[in-house]
Amino acid sequence: MSNAEQPAPYAGTPADPTAGAAAGTGAGPRRIRIPHLQQFKDSGQHFAMLTAYDQYTAAIFDEAGIEVLLVGDSAANNVMGHATTLPITLDEMIVFARSVTAGAQRALVVADLPFGSYEVSPAQAVESSIRLLKEGLVHAVKMEGGAHYVPHVSALAAAGIPVMAHVGFTPQSEHALGGYRVQGRGDAAQAVLDDAVALADAGAFCVLMEMVPAHVAAQVDAAVAVPTIGIGAGNATTGQVLVWQDMAGMRGGKAPRFVKAFADVRSVLSQAAKEYAAEVRSGSFPGPEHSF
Ligand code: KIV
Repeated sequence: MSNAEQPAPYAGTPADPTAGAAAGTGAGPRRIRIPHLQQFKDSGQHFAMLTAYDQYTAAIFDEAGIEVLLVGDSAANNVMGHATTLPITLDEMIVFARSVTAGAQRALVVADLPFGSYEVSPAQAVESSIRLLKEGLVHAVKMEGGAHYVPHVSALAAAGIPVMAHVGFTPQSEHALGGYRVQGRGDAAQAVLDDAVALADAGAFCVLMEMVPAHVAAQVDAAVAVPTIGIGAGNATTGQVLVWQDMAGMRGGKAPRFVKAFADVRSVLSQAAKEYAAEVRSGSFPGPEHSF
């Protein structure tokens, strides 16, 4: 790569993720791009990824300096109310993707290839990904599955479509895997490692690991040159991802062990709704200042 082709160095740090472009100083890249994620890996720094499904959360997370936004097929559970990620369609994913890309100025936006949109053949994976890039305006796609999908990843890479591999627990296969279970324990660790190495060798720009033991994720991170991302995979990966509703304390009920809620947005929204309803009932809202 010539100097002219080098990506602008990433100006943010984990301690100050809004430095540079996000802070309007012009010191960082206008858009986080794949080479910037590689810089995180090469310099031993971490980056943050969150899911987003709409323009407001996309803009809020983008302004907060989140480097990567994932239009996850978890929209099926977290937005649409399905029990699993399986029912969401490619057309529905494109609507969510388009909403997120409308709100994100700086983050790299990655969208999931939903169940049924890539398994049949590499050509199907390429066709579906083209729709996500062309209609959803995302910058990259994510695909669940192991070494079996090497031909799909190769075809995407050959078509110039950046693909993030997703190994370990893959929610689209939850029926085959027997439910939400940690993958790669004991002797099964080698399979996770083999999958990750095969997919990275085939051209994946990043390997995401879900629910694998921390020491296995660390082994994978050491074995592949590309950045890694973890969810329930310990802290040795280059990046971390959480579903935003989990991160912000939006959902009720018991959360998985790997989730940390950094706020209690559910209570804040609930309180706001109660106060609104009380003012409507008492007649104090709308007041003269809200009336024409
Ligand atoms: O769809 C999603 O939210 C995901 C994350 C769990 C990584 O794939």
